[in-house]
Amino acid sequence: MNMSLMNIKNITVLGSGVMGHGIAQVSAMAGYNVALRDIDQKFLDKAMGKIIWSLNKLVEKNKITKQESEKIIGRIKTYVDLRESLNDSDLVIEAVPEDMNLKKKIYAELDKLAPSNTVFASNTSTLPITELSEVTTRSSTFIGIHFFNPPQLMPLVEVIPGAQTSNSLIDTTMRYVKSIGKEPVLCNKDVAGFIVNRIFIPLVHEAIWSLERDHVKMTEIDAAVKFKLGFPMGILELADYAGIDVIHKATQEMYSRDKGVINPHPILAKLFKEGNYGQKSGRGFYEYENSAYERISLTAEEAERYNPLRLLGVAVNNACWLITNRVSNMEDIDRATKFGLGLKVGLFPTAEKFGFVKIVDELKRAVKIYGNFYEPDATLLKLVQ
Ligand code: 3HC
Repeated sequence: MNMSLMNIKNITVLGSGVMGHGIAQVSAMAGYNVALRDIDQKFLDKAMGKIIWSLNKLVEKNKITKQESEKIIGRIKTYVDLRESLNDSDLVIEAVPEDMNLKKKIYAELDKLAPSNTVFASNTSTLPITELSEVTTRSSTFIGIHFFNPPQLMPLVEVIPGAQTSNSLIDTTMRYVKSIGKEPVLCNKDVAGFIVNRIFIPLVHEAIWSLERDHVKMTEIDAAVKFKLGFPMGILELADYAGIDVIHKATQEMYSRDKGVINPHPILAKLFKEGNYGQKSGRGFYEYENSAYERISLTAEEAERYNPLRLLGVAVNNACWLITNRVSNMEDIDRATKFGLGLKVGLFPTAEKFGFVKIVDELKRAVKIYGNFYEPDATLLKLVQ
């Protein structure tokens, strides 16, 4: 298939939740016509409210003008009817809940309803792209485009080809991502968690294990992650922000595909079962006054009470696994952690500051006490030779 970016003018975004509304907004900001589709008009009205809130913030900060904001809103049309939302669509970006059966059902339907030249992308955070693409008759024009929350502010977009994705669609996707002002990072293999979630999701669980094992406070761990590891938020604060439901589903999916990637802590599943989804439900690890953007207050003083070496070790170990298995390389992992998680410097320069020898020693110590999950990866061992 010979397809150039020139052909992408009209984008359909399926699902208007946290990710869908943001993807619709950033695409419309770059001049694309967007059809935003959801199963009920009330979800679409809520999504348009969030888009208007976000655009107003950008106007307030002189990033765009009021006139531009109105034009952007004018480029987004909302639909409940799936068939109508697909008229003239060049690219469908699906951002519906992370449920394999639901996504497969939608792709089977899309395959029948969408024009034959429409290409499909999934914003899934962990589900296998190849398996999803196989329910359609167009697996060569099917790809993963994974945005980060909030899509309006996070520069990273992971691009994940499935086993059959054509090279021209990979090029087109990389150019689409650049055209909306984002930083694409190619994930060479369709592995559980891709690049960033392979690092982020296990880190959330490790932070919960640390609460239990090291007898520290949540705010002490979070402050250490923020002030010593250079994250913009604490790790449990970030889990609440991304959504405990999202993290729980990603955990289940990643763990079912690869037992070595994650050491699930039962507290996360418990929070999920209790409906404590984080900021959006008013309660997760922390409590929130309302569901709007809200931050936890963390101090440099609290950070001094915790050494996040084992947390860093787990993150770096998973990053090294990505290198050993040729999913990514050090440079892209640094870009991905900077642009997708907001790290001040990338993960590897952060680790270098702590010292790879210290990190390996800490992991070896953890193997003895807590088990093989902490076994240092071959690439990490090479770094200390
Ligand atoms: N649109 C526009 N403005 C927004 C916004 C949005 N969607 N969301 C928040 N803002 C505004 C806030 O209201 C605030 O405005 P104010 O200055 O008027 O109060 C401003 O942006 C942010 O200012 P802050 O000083 O509070 O925050 P930061 O400078 O730290 O930036 C951040 C905010 C970009 C969210 C930063 O904290 C960050 O990078 N956090 C990490 C987020 C992250 O890691 N995301 C990835 C999660 S993993 C994921 O998504 C993958 C998935 O598959 C699980």
